[in-house]
Amino acid sequence: MSRTILVTGGAGFIGSNFVLQRVAAGDRILNLDKLTYAGNPGNLAALKDNPGYVFVHGGIEDEALLTRLFAQHKPDAVVNFAAESHVDRSIVSPEEFITTNVVGTFRLLHAALAYYRGLDAAAQARFRIHHVSTDEVYGSLGPDDAAFTESKAYEPNSPYSASKASSDHLVRAYQHTYGMPTLTTNCSNNYGPYQFPEKLIPLVILNALNGRPLPIYGDGMNVRDWLYVGDHCDAIALVLEKGVVGETYNIGGDSEMANLDVVRTICSIMDELHPAGAPHTQLITYVKDRPGHDRRYAVDTARIKRELGWRPRESFASGIRRTVEWYLGNPAWVAEVTSGEYRKWISTNYETRG
Ligand code: NAD
Ligand code: DAU
Repeated sequence: MSRTILVTGGAGFIGSNFVLQRVAAGDRILNLDKLTYAGNPGNLAALKDNPGYVFVHGGIEDEALLTRLFAQHKPDAVVNFAAESHVDRSIVSPEEFITTNVVGTFRLLHAALAYYRGLDAAAQARFRIHHVSTDEVYGSLGPDDAAFTESKAYEPNSPYSASKASSDHLVRAYQHTYGMPTLTTNCSNNYGPYQFPEKLIPLVILNALNGRPLPIYGDGMNVRDWLYVGDHCDAIALVLEKGVVGETYNIGGDSEMANLDVVRTICSIMDELHPAGAPHTQLITYVKDRPGHDRRYAVDTARIKRELGWRPRESFASGIRRTVEWYLGNPAWVAEVTSGEYRKWISTNYETRG
């Protein structure tokens, strides 16, 4: 059945992939996005004249706007992607992370609760609010520690992960106290089309393309689990449809890799697709580490597989090749996002790392 979904942060990386996927599946999407540096309406240019898609420019911390949108569009569900999402930026300027991730999530929950309470019984039974979160809330693992399960205690280490942990707790509290029909997912590192090139994978692809240094923080042996963004979007859609209210579900790619291996993999694909005379690995440059850099994340995804039957479709090998091909095949998108604000961030973050 076609639904109306209020998506927040739908002009960002994961949000825009989700919006494209859901409109194609027949859902009506109302996209509320503040259009920070990370929001790009160009990601959704294909939906310009689509009657199933409405864009609203605004922040989730604007409760009056949220109340108006709920009354006007009567969504069947909310999926909350809106966030400040970059760990390095949270170290340089943490305040926006509190405003959006903590206060914004609170106001969204508050407005959604008022709306939910005004629905009839059948609409209440259908309504869901899905909060998109991260594996970083669980803290950092040692090399032999078991992967994070949903019952792992939260131990966030960066202003970003602390703000996401706080938002997860608010979601939990709204379910427990007020009976809000919430769902939470905690996912590992995503990669794929439309990712802003401040994050490791698109940054390395574009630097390699332009013959620039490939910056490796610390010793390059920090480990992340990588998931292709389309698989994350499938998992969110499945949890939204079949997840048990009040539950949290881990999502991940069963693809733990050291950063250095991720970068070397990209270099070998670039050697093949965009040969530069010398191997791209020659561009690898070790730079000053991220303060408080979490050593390892790994997610146990047994619950979502067992209870909902989800499986990632892409392996890291297939997903990373598709991703490199996408960046090489979309020079206009790349040129647009790497002007202005992007250049400012690159000089803020890398000139001081030496
Ligand atoms: P992103 O930074 O690419 O996009 C964030 C979007 O939110 C942008 O469009 C931005 O304009 C919008 N936004 C920011 N503040 C807002 C506000 N106050 N009101 C409305 N819109 C606002 O982020 P992403 O990588 O797409 O991540 C989306 C969500 O998924 C985040 O909640 C993030 O914590 C979570 N997550 C991301 C990853 C990952 O690897 N990228 C992994 C797990 C979870
Ligand atoms: O684990 C999920 C999280 O993954 C999400 O919640 C975040 O929103 C998302 O940004 C991501 O966080 P990370 O900090 O893991 O992603 P990032 O791409 O910034 O960094 C990945 C790893 O690569 C990390 O160990 C830091 C390292 N790194 C990053 C950059 C930008 C480098 O070595 N060099 C770099 O230039």
